[in-house]
Amino acid sequence: LAGLRAGEGQGTPLYLRLRRSIEDALSHGVIRPGDALPSEREIAARTEMSRVTVRKAVQDLVASGLLIQRHGSGTFVAPRVDRVEQSLSRLTSFTQDMARRGMTAHSEWIDRGIYPPSPDEMMVLGLSSRELVARLSRLRLANDTPLAIERATLSSDVLPDPGTVTSSLYTVLQRTGKRPVRAVQRISATNLEEADAALLRVPAGAAGLSIERISYLASGRVIEFTRSIYRGDTYDFVAELRLAE
Ligand code: GLP
Repeated sequence: LAGLRAGEGQGTPLYLRLRRSIEDALSHGVIRPGDALPSEREIAARTEMSRVTVRKAVQDLVASGLLIQRHGSGTFVAPRVDRVEQSLSRLTSFTQDMARRGMTAHSEWIDRGIYPPSPDEMMVLGLSSRELVARLSRLRLANDTPLAIERATLSSDVLPDPGTVTSSLYTVLQRTGKRPVRAVQRISATNLEEADAALLRVPAGAAGLSIERISYLASGRVIEFTRSIYRGDTYDFVAELRLAE
């Protein structure tokens, strides 16, 4: 920040210039994940900017997930999340995946309810417009770090009361003898839209993975249609490949 002074450069709002120089310091490793930032007063004194300007730049970076604020102890560079390695060939649940890594899975509800199906839900789940679906939209977190937004749809006769899903959907399905045994999963690249990025605590436009899972019972019936957005900076999908015969 030393090179930045209130009088330099024209046109760009001051708080934006300060924000960019903090981002530069981050990308060049001058400040690292976990480091404490100088206080607002100190930054203001060093850059000869007002406290209001400094606060605006810092708030912007907190909103985009690069900085975190802890009450009473100050502002820190957000810790880097260890990447999660996920096999592409095993049908597991989020809760199981995290438990296997010694992490605790946790969900925050975005929406949970019974709705008339959308045209694509009708098609995938094989329902008519008179039937209903259960929708579960959750922010999925591991050790309090958001990793994914999952929007699952099931036929309402499979899950008549979405309120019964308090933590793991697959555990509830298991209990009722409806745990899927096979799934087809499609993964594509995406840039996170503002609302999703804010939930995942990353900057808007950051890289993400869009994952669609259609899962089946042994009878061949489709049981689940889930569209998820995973943070691109935390997930590695790994597949074992065998020589084609
Ligand atoms: C994975 C899948 C989802 C599935 C979920 C169930 O994350 N991508 O399609 O719905 O697991 O997880 P849980 O049983 O933890 O709710």
